[in-house]
Amino acid sequence: MKYRQLGRTPWKVSEISFGAWAIGGAWGRVDDTESLAALHKAIDCGVNFIDTADVYGMGRSERLIAQLKQERKEEIVVATKAGRRLPAQTADGYNEGNLRAFIDDSLKYLSTDCLDLVQLHCPPTDVYYRPEVFGLLDRLAEAGKIRYYGVSVERVEEALKAIEYPNVQTVQIIFNCFRHRPADLFFGEAAKKRVGILARVPLASGMLSGKLTRDSKFAADDHRHFNRHGEEFDVGETFSGVDYDTALAAVEEIRGLLPPGVTMAQFALRWILMFDAVTCAIPGGKRPLQVEENCAASDLPKLSDRAMEAIRALYDAKIRASVHQRW
Ligand SMILES: NC(=O)c1ccc[n+]([C@@H]2O[C@H](COP(=O)([O-])OP(=O)(O)OC[C@H]3O[C@@H](n4cnc5c(N)ncnc54)[C@H](OP(=O)(O)O)[C@@H]3O)[C@@H](O)[C@H]2O)c1
Repeated sequence: MKYRQLGRTPWKVSEISFGAWAIGGAWGRVDDTESLAALHKAIDCGVNFIDTADVYGMGRSERLIAQLKQERKEEIVVATKAGRRLPAQTADGYNEGNLRAFIDDSLKYLSTDCLDLVQLHCPPTDVYYRPEVFGLLDRLAEAGKIRYYGVSVERVEEALKAIEYPNVQTVQIIFNCFRHRPADLFFGEAAKKRVGILARVPLASGMLSGKLTRDSKFAADDHRHFNRHGEEFDVGETFSGVDYDTALAAVEEIRGLLPPGVTMAQFALRWILMFDAVTCAIPGGKRPLQVEENCAASDLPKLSDRAMEAIRALYDAKIRASVHQRW
């Protein structure tokens, strides 16, 4: 496992880290014993950074991470998120009373006195135009409740606006073989300001593992069933917003690019790591074997120019029209 500097924080984090949404909920049935085993496997593989949120199973994901931290002696940096527990997503909801309450709950579930990194959880765009929200985060940091803060965004424009606030340390954004636009302008701007970048949905919700087919079935409580068309939250969070059949066809083309012995999930993760501005990819993992496979992407050699050009051409031909200007 290789490590990269997380923005201006003191932490060097594993370039393949761990996304803890699925172990909390909204991805079909999960078993806490297996989830904990997946978390332990991540630490065994050198992962030292975990991304979670208060809403992932309403504390379930955070509690599992607290248990992991109790059982391991390694330093583990935990990034959580706040804001999605609001009954309706309005900028007014991002007020002092609500944010303090969300952070107090995360402190309790994560069993700690100070949160390492708190990210605003894809708030409405207007929140980025309210400096008082960032002022409040500054005060929470001064009070010792949070060490650092950042944002998780849907759109590139929100990311560009967020990094105007000098104490935003990290931006989490969807970036993968099916989502290229963050690399156009935002990565350069973030690098100038030494802002850390967390690449989320790196496997396009499992699509970029190459295991899905037209006949794949998802449980009723799996967002790949209930959010296919953005029914519950931004459609970009499910299969990266790419139509299922279009994505399957693109995956078949990627299959022909895989170097011997490299799985598609590893290839997709290694593609992300080709971008120096990215601090880490945070693939979700429900099982130890998935985690082990994903972590091994860090040890792979660079992808060839030919492979990089092929992904760019595939994106331009099959994906760009439906996603590039949306996010
Ligand atoms: N708004 C936000 O801030 C936001 C939104 C989305 C995600 N995130 C963060 O980003 C993280 C990653 O995104 P994500 O979990 O949505 O999507 P992802 O990482 O693209 O996909 C994860 C899923 O793919 C499958 N998978 C993982 N590794 C695999 C492998 N090696 N082979 C085959 N299948 C594999 C697993 O599901 P199955 O085994 O069930 O197929 C896993 O849950 C999340 O966990 C969360 O921390 C944040």
